[in-house]
Amino acid sequence: MSAIDVAAVKRDFPLLARQVNGRRVVYLDSASSAQKPVAVLYAMDDAYRNHYANIHRGVYTIAEEATAAFEDARRKVARFVNASRTEEIVFTRNATESINLVAYTWARANLKAGDAIVLSHMEHHANVVPWQMLAAERGVELRWIPLTADFRLDLTNLDALLDGARLLAVSAMSNVLGTINDIRPLADAAHAHGALVLVDACQFVPHVATDVQAWDADFVAFSSHKILGPTGIGALWARYDLLDAMPPFLGGGEMIRDVRLDGFTTNDLPWKFEAGTPAIVEAVGFGAAIDYISALGMDAVRAHERLITAYALEALRDRFDDSLTIYGPTDVDVRGGAVSFLFDGIHAHDISQVLDEDAVCVRAGHHCAKPLMRQLGVPATTRASFYVYNDEADVDALVEALAKAQKFFAV
Ligand SMILES: Cc1ncc(COP(=O)(O)O)c(C=O)c1O
Repeated sequence: MSAIDVAAVKRDFPLLARQVNGRRVVYLDSASSAQKPVAVLYAMDDAYRNHYANIHRGVYTIAEEATAAFEDARRKVARFVNASRTEEIVFTRNATESINLVAYTWARANLKAGDAIVLSHMEHHANVVPWQMLAAERGVELRWIPLTADFRLDLTNLDALLDGARLLAVSAMSNVLGTINDIRPLADAAHAHGALVLVDACQFVPHVATDVQAWDADFVAFSSHKILGPTGIGALWARYDLLDAMPPFLGGGEMIRDVRLDGFTTNDLPWKFEAGTPAIVEAVGFGAAIDYISALGMDAVRAHERLITAYALEALRDRFDDSLTIYGPTDVDVRGGAVSFLFDGIHAHDISQVLDEDAVCVRAGHHCAKPLMRQLGVPATTRASFYVYNDEADVDALVEALAKAQKFFAV
């Protein structure tokens, strides 16, 4: 029995009532971006219809309402990840921008040639390329935590990798493998070596109760659109003292306290990092999404995901046996609901296209993790990913559509 009433949840998502090719949509691409409940759509509609003005500048009622709604959303995000202070939440465009913010401010202010950053082989490009850009510019060394045969971080040489490192930047949950990384011991090890810890929590925050303080992390990046919220807004959580000491990122309005001909002073946190008009209504939607998922309960969300992932892993194994290879841990205690796989002899894109005929939406490709694909020795995988609105019937539809694809390509 699921901890979530999935039938009721499904009714909250208008897109899931749609048909494609005469069939109900089976949406299995939430690791890429989640669908939006009516609560989020209503909140954004109401914000535009009744409370819209630019924020922080106006002293009239509507501008004050818009400002209050924006800052209220920040409080919701702060509570959602258990930040100790609301000012530790910086709104960005997405997780990618959050990581770049750290790379352009903290890292460029603090790292020099010969310093090292430790990453892992399972990172998304968002947590690889900003560091490669920095490495090329500054002569910073990048080191890599490899993977074990069961798709987890191989921590055998962690101490050697962290020796002399200034930053450990690692994902809390892989968007390809589903692997959940135990952040606290990683943070303890990094801190013991004098390195800070950045957590790419883009896949983790939507699915598992997140406590940035229990992690003892220094920076945590995530996006609204994977948590049932709108695109265009994400967040960086960082320890207050770090944010306070970091130079600003983008320059312009909002991020200043004063500007003279000979220079400027920066605004208080978190606005020091929020130059220009922010994504006001998106923040409201982000807050509404957090309200929605919190009402389901993050423990129930995680329990449901374990259930549905276990069901999917078993169903795929039972039906296809050795002709289908799953890339990711088999133990649902250490993985989330992103399930990547390959059929022997059928390209991932071909699978995805055939599945679309049955309105089964999965993703095929490198999933923005090309270094990982190279480690796995495959050009691409097909990925089905689950969220609160997916049930066993969705998994069954996936399995039936895959069986059709298998027949079509006559493996
Ligand atoms: C693990 C991980 N990190 C970072 C990102 C980047 O997120 P965004 O595109 O919202 O910036 C993603 C998106 O798929 C992801 O899965």
